[in-house]
Amino acid sequence: LEMSSVDLSGLCDRVLAIYVPEGHILRLEENNNFEIRSDDIWVITYPKCGTTWTQEIVWLVCNNADTETANTVELDTRFPFFEYPFTNQKRVIRKMPSPRLIKTHLALPVLPHQIREKKPKIIYTMRNPKDTCVSMYHFVKLLTPINYKGNFEEFTKEFFMGVTVGHGSFWDHHRDYWRLKNEMNILILKYEDLITDLAKEVKRIAAFLEKELTEEQVQTIVEHCTFKTMKDNSASNQSHIQNMGLMRAGMGNFMRKGKIGDWKNYFTPELNDMVDQLNKKYLEPEGLTFDYE
Ligand code: A3P
Repeated sequence: LEMSSVDLSGLCDRVLAIYVPEGHILRLEENNNFEIRSDDIWVITYPKCGTTWTQEIVWLVCNNADTETANTVELDTRFPFFEYPFTNQKRVIRKMPSPRLIKTHLALPVLPHQIREKKPKIIYTMRNPKDTCVSMYHFVKLLTPINYKGNFEEFTKEFFMGVTVGHGSFWDHHRDYWRLKNEMNILILKYEDLITDLAKEVKRIAAFLEKELTEEQVQTIVEHCTFKTMKDNSASNQSHIQNMGLMRAGMGNFMRKGKIGDWKNYFTPELNDMVDQLNKKYLEPEGLTFDYE
């Protein structure tokens, strides 16, 4: 009540966490106690690192490359978003038959507690920090609930301090999951590797999930999951967000560019230096490096 006298206008420009709390903070208790099944398959990412792409590939790997269903049934229905901020998807996930496919952006410390003991399979997709930042900048400009007004330089500084994304720091998120890379139930993917050799990564995913795919099925998945095909597929291009009025018209699409190296069109030498320093501090000592072009 005291807060109601405080002028909060403009705060949304700075603290995007406001966009996420319903799923991420207020439902923390429900997240913590969520019942996990050992045959669940979780796709976990920091936002804008290739979540949607990974989900589509994993769904096809688990469903015999059934592109007909992938072209007609919404990806969010086939592969629900655990902490979706607009409707309570946990109710839906509880009723799903096994094996359940679940997407989350939750940082490691706030995953449901049972994940540690039930050890479901986890696929974590990483992306280089510079392209992730550019992708996120466009996304927050696009989303009407966020309505970000800052310029790229302001955004980048806030982003790398972990202020602007409800899922915490890029560095902590990546480092925490990377440290689990030798666990049997975790497969780490990199966005850049998906771009470079998708067929190879589809085979790695299939091997990890213990699914046998023919060469033809691998090829079908690769063709279905190219940027262009997914951009044109209304079941997986997130156009429903647009249809819900959550994206500003004329500001672009969720499926934006799909490339490595777009950061070069945005980063000043000063920003580049800042990210290189942070990278040296947080990820390089962990042995985690990325491709940037
Ligand atoms: P860009 O904004 O750089 O284009 P997420 O699903 O985690 O929100 O990630 C979104 C990013 O993944 C966007 O990056 C989007 O274009 C990209 N993306 C989605 N599908 C892709 C695909 N099939 N191939 C390459 N990039 C893809």
